[in-house]
Amino acid sequence: MQKNRVSPRLCIENVFQLATIYSNVDCFNFYLCFMSKTKTTFFCQNCGSQSAKWVGKCPSCNEWNTFVEEVIQKDTKNNRLQVFSGNKNGKGETNKSVLLQDIGTAEYPRIAVPGKELTRVLGGGIVPGSLVLFGGEPGIGKSTLMLQLALRLKNLKVLYVSGEESEQQIKMRADRIGVTTDNCFILQETNTQNIFQQITEIEPQLVIIDSIQTLHTSYVESSPGSVSQVRECAAEFLRFAKETNTPVFMIGHITKEGSLAGPKVLEHMVDTVLQFEGDRNHVYRLLRTTKNRFGSTNELGIYEMQGEGLKEVTNPSEILITNRDNPTSGVAIAASLEGNRPLLIETQALVSSAAYGTPQRSSTGFDLRRLSMLLAVLEKRCGFRLGIKDVFLNIAGGIKIEDPGVDLALVCAILSSNEDLAIPQNFCFAGEVGLTGEIRPVNRIEQRISEADKLGFSKIFISGYNLKGVERLKTKIEIVSVNKMEEVFSAIFA
Ligand code: TYD
Ligand code: MG
Repeated sequence: MQKNRVSPRLCIENVFQLATIYSNVDCFNFYLCFMSKTKTTFFCQNCGSQSAKWVGKCPSCNEWNTFVEEVIQKDTKNNRLQVFSGNKNGKGETNKSVLLQDIGTAEYPRIAVPGKELTRVLGGGIVPGSLVLFGGEPGIGKSTLMLQLALRLKNLKVLYVSGEESEQQIKMRADRIGVTTDNCFILQETNTQNIFQQITEIEPQLVIIDSIQTLHTSYVESSPGSVSQVRECAAEFLRFAKETNTPVFMIGHITKEGSLAGPKVLEHMVDTVLQFEGDRNHVYRLLRTTKNRFGSTNELGIYEMQGEGLKEVTNPSEILITNRDNPTSGVAIAASLEGNRPLLIETQALVSSAAYGTPQRSSTGFDLRRLSMLLAVLEKRCGFRLGIKDVFLNIAGGIKIEDPGVDLALVCAILSSNEDLAIPQNFCFAGEVGLTGEIRPVNRIEQRISEADKLGFSKIFISGYNLKGVERLKTKIEIVSVNKMEEVFSAIFA
């Protein structure tokens, strides 16, 4: 018993050591807090002249009572907020606990956003005082979408802060987008204290930061883009958003090399995380919510990059299906689901004899391992000799799909290409393929069927297990239930 006891002092030492190792940067800042002194100066609010001490009458413009103390550099965390005026915390008030039932349910009206896609993704508009992080790979169109938002919110005073592009560059982009407004301010600045000064002056109703990685605050010594800088800058904007009830959008970079601090650190802080995805070489971009304190995370917005900015795609299924007049082998339509949104997409396969010894398997927009699994099922359960063939797979439109409901369409596309028989263009599929070759049910089958019906498909193949509840649907489309792969082939190619 005695042996196992650890002395409390040793424990504390260990904890301290660990803390030192894990937060070197923080410790350094902590140390700086105690070592450095607050630097403040008095500025005349009328002419801007500077003085080390408070004076009643400005010596340069002769105005009375215009000198206000402003912080140039500050050390303690509590006072930081005085950088922008009008905060409550500066007065030293503390919050008191309240009973849950005593809290009123006063709901702030959301700010209406132009465009259905963004509205849906945000859960119905912008919540006042919310902090939104908008991430995506370089060149995907983050700045374009945010500038579009700023330009289209015509009756809202918007401040667009750019640390990446010059004013002229932003102007050029705005000209390209072709929307004019007289309520959008552009600020090219990277220091948060200067940004807050501008914010105090302009009093914008929405702030857009492009991007959080380029900003720096004077309170942290490290370079812009480092984790502590990013975290601290984001914390400053968080406090600003909550205290002034102004929504803030922050663009965040995602780099594979990790040279900039990834926005992962920020995700806990912010209210909403939006992710812009898609292939830069394709025109379609998907806007997803990965976190939303004010709405569902299953929403999806689809955009198309055009010469004059990003355009909403309201009828994605119609666009994603290209060739419906001329049936070709190797094409099958999947009734898929992206988030909560039904989406009919074209899956394409090309099966050819392997020119070299090892057959090639390549897949765009679909998991390669899952493709191997489907090929193995076809080989083992259905007797198709695909082991000696090259198999190429493509999801049209550069979209990445994770929904297992596309399995059935993919398998049909592969077999259609293998047999060189075209699938009738009015057929579509929704089903998962299991390891035994059975067709498994998929979720939200009613929505998939309705979407296929809306788009004029004549037959949809679904799993027999999905039939329950489907009978109630009043649709023109013929529903064919299948349980085994063999049944599908005989039904299509009969
Ligand atoms: P951008 O918004 O700068 O990307 P990010 O901020 O995510 O790095 O946009 C990048 C691409 O978009 C760029 O390659 C050019 C293209 N683009 C268009 O095709 N049309 C347009 O109207 C605009 C503004 C940009
Ligand atoms: Mg950009």
